[in-house]
Amino acid sequence: MLEIKNLSYSVDENGVKKEILKNINLSFSDDKLYVITGNNGSGKSTLLKIIMGIEKQNEGDVLYNKKSLTNMSITERAKEGVSIAFQKPVTFKGLKVKDLLDITAGKSHNLSAMCEILSKVGLCAKDYIDRELDERLSGGEIKRIELAMALSRNAKISLFDEPEAGIDLWSFDNLTQIFSNNKNKINIVVSHQKQILSIADEIILLKNGEVVCKGEKGKVLPLLDGNGCGRLRGEQNG
Ligand SMILES: Nc1ncnc2c1ncn2[C@@H]1O[C@H](COP(=O)(O)OP(=O)(O)OP(=O)(O)O)[C@@H](O)[C@H]1O
Ligand SMILES: [Mg+2]
Repeated sequence: MLEIKNLSYSVDENGVKKEILKNINLSFSDDKLYVITGNNGSGKSTLLKIIMGIEKQNEGDVLYNKKSLTNMSITERAKEGVSIAFQKPVTFKGLKVKDLLDITAGKSHNLSAMCEILSKVGLCAKDYIDRELDERLSGGEIKRIELAMALSRNAKISLFDEPEAGIDLWSFDNLTQIFSNNKNKINIVVSHQKQILSIADEIILLKNGEVVCKGEKGKVLPLLDGNGCGRLRGEQNG
């Protein structure tokens, strides 16, 4: 189980404190798919970066199976089984797709293993394994390769930041399949897409750096459109 306890994060902007995440308390149990959603700027990517150790919270703790990750580096967290696929994937000039798959998984893949991984994200391996990871790949191709890498890591906690960004409409079903099948581990997906929200086990809604509602999909999904999350918290006007 992954737990986030009393977590707050703020930055100093020209001498003024800007609160980005405010007293977040969440727990993520194994083999569930969690989708975090919310407005642009509500703090979703920041929360994932804090779990990965890319940003450091000012207060609170992140625990995995009761062990604190807070003072661990990114590498140490990766060794504990945490992995992230970024909202804006990183390109690496000079590095080939096959090299990156091997590096991220920490083992070498034969052609059929690469085929299996790349076909999950809808890419034909033979067309891509020798391609360089540079800006000649299209946005959607880079995003798919990053997803493939995330899958090849076989991490215990997989963080995906807007995996749908740049993925065409026709590939959406494939994408939702990936998450539905990636079971027996904690999957946390940040998404704005209804199709992805609809496959969640649990949904978390962030607003201005706060968790305004969380719970089973069946409970939260109907409340999102009408901004009725207050009702879950027992408020009159949500
Ligand atoms: N280092 C920083 N300095 C100043 N502001 C920051 C910093 N990091 C994040 N922010 C601000 O914090 C807020 C939350 O950013 P974040 O990227 O987490 O949003 P998000 O929910 O992922 O949004 P989106 O849906 O657009 O991806 C934004 O207003 C962003 O500009
Ligand atoms: Mg974001």
